[in-house]
Amino acid sequence: MASLKNDTFLRALQRQPTPYTPVWIMRQAGRYLPEYNATRKRAGSFLGLAKNPNYATEVTLQPLARFPLDAAILFSDILTVPDAMGLGLYFAEGEGPKFERPLRDEAAIKKLTVPDVGTTLRYVTDAVSQIRRALDGTVPLIGFSGSPYTLACYMIEGGGSADFRRIKTMLYERPDLLHHILDITAQSVIAYLNAQIQAGVQAVMIFDTWGGSLSAAAYQEFSLAYLKRIIAGLTREHDGSRVPSIVFTKGGGLWLEDIAAIGCDAVGLDWTCDIGAARARIGATVALQGNLDPITLFAQPAAIRAQVGQVLASYGHGSGHVFNLGHGVSQFTNPDHVAALVDAVHDLSHAYHTPT
Ligand code: CP3
Repeated sequence: MASLKNDTFLRALQRQPTPYTPVWIMRQAGRYLPEYNATRKRAGSFLGLAKNPNYATEVTLQPLARFPLDAAILFSDILTVPDAMGLGLYFAEGEGPKFERPLRDEAAIKKLTVPDVGTTLRYVTDAVSQIRRALDGTVPLIGFSGSPYTLACYMIEGGGSADFRRIKTMLYERPDLLHHILDITAQSVIAYLNAQIQAGVQAVMIFDTWGGSLSAAAYQEFSLAYLKRIIAGLTREHDGSRVPSIVFTKGGGLWLEDIAAIGCDAVGLDWTCDIGAARARIGATVALQGNLDPITLFAQPAAIRAQVGQVLASYGHGSGHVFNLGHGVSQFTNPDHVAALVDAVHDLSHAYHTPT
């Protein structure tokens, strides 16, 4: 960490003083950037991009060349893990991600094993090493994974779903089978994140995109318990620095105390929570990341600046806030509006930090 030129993101995650509030954006490397679409065209497909470390490095750096962001995030996808487990990930044009071999029967579920991440996901760790070299100590690199429950949603449904009928039916009818899937997946996620840390990521984030679709009791048993296991299994220090962890359950606002208690360093918030109220609840024990409504970016820059000002004011004075959207940036966003967001955060946040 000593060699990092900008460590505000890592400091904020550990609730240490910073001169301003650091900012990065979920899905910052993606289809709203014309240069991303150009590289994707050269690669032939999304998976062609993600599985080639040269392309993955190129697109990881694209948003940083445009905006003074305080962190880079590895370009990859959460579904690389089930792909490595043999489910066969593919993208049908306009339909999002799909699996050739979703988990539909007990025999397939019982055959599931933890993949050897060193070989099956070597393209990810190679990308991490290459991105770290390319970043050359400018800003830290974030690694990530899906949560076991969120990965299981795609593994069982076979793709996206409006009501998660298959996985929830299994949850109520055959909880033993779902626990088996979650157990193997949690072991895989631990191995995968630790391999990313070994290769050089300086913080990790777990995306629990669909945990918020569960009932309160089911969330505890089928999502949070596995998140806790993952946090307990992570390498806490690498190269003499702490590797902070961020847990983001979309729709998890009702359960913030429980999420903050699993041992993570920071909790991601979607835009439905008031960040000041969240700070009053859990801000003494963890940092908070978020939480501007991504659709704010469709408004004009003056309105974006006003909304950024509201999130900063709601969090209030002091460290422990990493500015972000409450979910990924939409592909239809104007990149100039992202520039307005980043500038507003940097500009307006000085007032909430004591000069050191
Ligand atoms: O944040 C970043 O810039 C890092 C890259 C990243 C991607 N996906 C790239 C991507 C990350 C962190 C993800 C996580 C991810 N992937 C999640 C969890 C976060 C969330 O958004 O809730 C989920 C649920 C997925 C699964 C997934 N991958 C979906 C649903 C899609 C289709 C999205 C769509 O709008 O069609 C993907 C594909 C994907 N992953 C794209 C990108 C940039 C778009 C693919 C393309 O270029 O065609």
